[in-house]
Amino acid sequence: MPEPHSPSLGDATRGRILFGGDYNPEQWPEETWHDDVRLMRDAGVNSVTLGVFSWARLEPQPGVREFGWLDRLMDLMHGNGIGVVLATPTSSPPPWMGRLHPETLPRDEDGRTEWWGSRQHFSHSSAVYRRYAAAITEDLAVRYSGHPALRMWHINNEYCTYDWGDEAEDAFRGWLQAKYGTLDALNEAWGTAFWSQGYGDWYEVLPPRRAHYMKNPAQVLDFKRFTSDALLECYLAERDIVARHSPHIPVTTNFMAVWQGLDAWQWAAQEDVVSIDVYPDPRDPFGAQYGALVHDMTRSQAHGGPWMVMEQAAGPVNWRGVNHPKPAGLNRLWSLQAVARGADAVCYFQWRQSRQGSEKFHSGMVGHAGEHGRTFQEAKRLGAELALLGDKVADTRVEAPEIAVLLDWNAWWASAQDGRLSSEADCPEIVRAWHRALWEAHTVADFAHPEHDLSAYKLVVVPHLYLMTDAAIDNLLAYVHQGGTLVAGFQTGIADEDDRVREGGMDRRLRELFGIRTLHEWWPLDAGETVDAEGFHGTLWSEEIEAADDVDAVTPYKGGELDGLPAVLRKGRAWYVSTLPEPHALRTLLADIAAGAGVRPTLAGLPAGVEAVRRGGLLFLLHHGRDRVTVPVPGRHRDLLTGAEVIDTVELGRYGVAVLEVAA
Ligand code: GAL
Repeated sequence: MPEPHSPSLGDATRGRILFGGDYNPEQWPEETWHDDVRLMRDAGVNSVTLGVFSWARLEPQPGVREFGWLDRLMDLMHGNGIGVVLATPTSSPPPWMGRLHPETLPRDEDGRTEWWGSRQHFSHSSAVYRRYAAAITEDLAVRYSGHPALRMWHINNEYCTYDWGDEAEDAFRGWLQAKYGTLDALNEAWGTAFWSQGYGDWYEVLPPRRAHYMKNPAQVLDFKRFTSDALLECYLAERDIVARHSPHIPVTTNFMAVWQGLDAWQWAAQEDVVSIDVYPDPRDPFGAQYGALVHDMTRSQAHGGPWMVMEQAAGPVNWRGVNHPKPAGLNRLWSLQAVARGADAVCYFQWRQSRQGSEKFHSGMVGHAGEHGRTFQEAKRLGAELALLGDKVADTRVEAPEIAVLLDWNAWWASAQDGRLSSEADCPEIVRAWHRALWEAHTVADFAHPEHDLSAYKLVVVPHLYLMTDAAIDNLLAYVHQGGTLVAGFQTGIADEDDRVREGGMDRRLRELFGIRTLHEWWPLDAGETVDAEGFHGTLWSEEIEAADDVDAVTPYKGGELDGLPAVLRKGRAWYVSTLPEPHALRTLLADIAAGAGVRPTLAGLPAGVEAVRRGGLLFLLHHGRDRVTVPVPGRHRDLLTGAEVIDTVELGRYGVAVLEVAA
């Protein structure tokens, strides 16, 4: 019997790096399609994503189908050797649906309807919406499953909606009944003895709608869990339809980068291909690090295997306050950075810049300036370079990182509640600060869920797991017990999975692990305020901790209320950092801890601003600065991008990249 084949990105890439993007030809006359294809071929585009927002075009009236235009496009793409990532159009229902079935429209926490006229105006819990979504998905799958251009299914687009409406209320209640079984269990988990919130009937239990004052945090936490699950049900329903018709074609849905709404660990487990939309701000001095973080998260969700940049911008976006273009070379640099960190697809929103609609000032690969514009010319160069790398890079893995950064959406959700001590302490920003320290120390990290097997890592970093399950705590204890090195930031393991503060203010076993006898008080800091510790300044937070007798080392706070108390504690291989050290101090601390754990930087002697990543036996060097630098690379190499021989050093200019292969 042949092994059952699970589809993967390899089925779509077929040994190449995918290059292309969202293609919205329904916005253009058909003559333009032929010009599009000419330019796509010129730029080496080998993949387009069709149909993301095509529902009104495909189903102009309920039950009516207009597939002719899509048939012509699928054939056109195939005839030109361009594969298609075919989307289900279900993120933007046609206006007739809202008019005929207003219950398909979501409502916000104030009960206000989100009307059509934009996008994503669907209630995840609406039975009518789900029925129409399944029907159009079924018909697309029947029609195109066997089409030779089809490479991948793309379900919906950036699932991200919340709904406080009536059907969502019923669904939330059903979700809670399945979770808790009895009202007593729900009352206990939500702590409803507080403020007279005890429920005596399931019909009293609501989504957390507008209220006079702070809402019950456990209720809000469950609502976030429910929303992620309700959207996942929508995804799974469509995924199962397309998978039934084309079991050999991989399925994905594109995540927004570092997005709170979906528990990406759970979602990624249901995808054949993990894909991400990533839009670092070209003006952000640490935009490259943000990109690296997103790539590391996505690769980790793909279990270290190849993943896909489904969307990025060739130039400016149009949804920030001020939207800056990418300076020459930056698009190439950040695209190759994604490849270095494991991407097998470099795709854009969108192929041709719109001339109408809300995104007419959002860049495209072909901008308003057309084929002679810098954006297209740069895209064309990139396409040629990706083609050079394809057979050496596609389907290979990033050299296994020795560091894992732990992240859990439940902890993020719970830490972002009303009624906390500091609204300055933002989980993703704290994670970013710790990741930045690792990135600046020239180490590559994975992300992991706190209940994952961590035994492959030499160092585990916990930036901000405010909430931890018992299983997660057991996992960390076992990891350290078996010889791993652990470093945790402030407020680790404060709450259990119901957001109940653990006895003593922090889990007892974790206190013992880190050598904390008593956690007396938390001392959050104001924005911009710092606290002095021996050898560094802390930001954001500090803690009044009494160390246990068996602690091995303490770096104390200096001056102020916490004078002499531990800022950093070490007991054996477990470190606890009760503040957020300023960036260079966190980098030094983490680099020292990593070195102590046997982790080495990817390459010795790297200049600041040069990133090094090893993938598939190749060394990627990415220069994020503008001045020329010399990078030591002992031995003889060949740069796959230029063909040049490299002996012992390589020179990189502004935004320069080298992809080095050891010379035979
Ligand atoms: C993404 C979305 C695209 C486009 C893009 C603009 O969130 O999936 O359709 O809107 O942003 O940056």
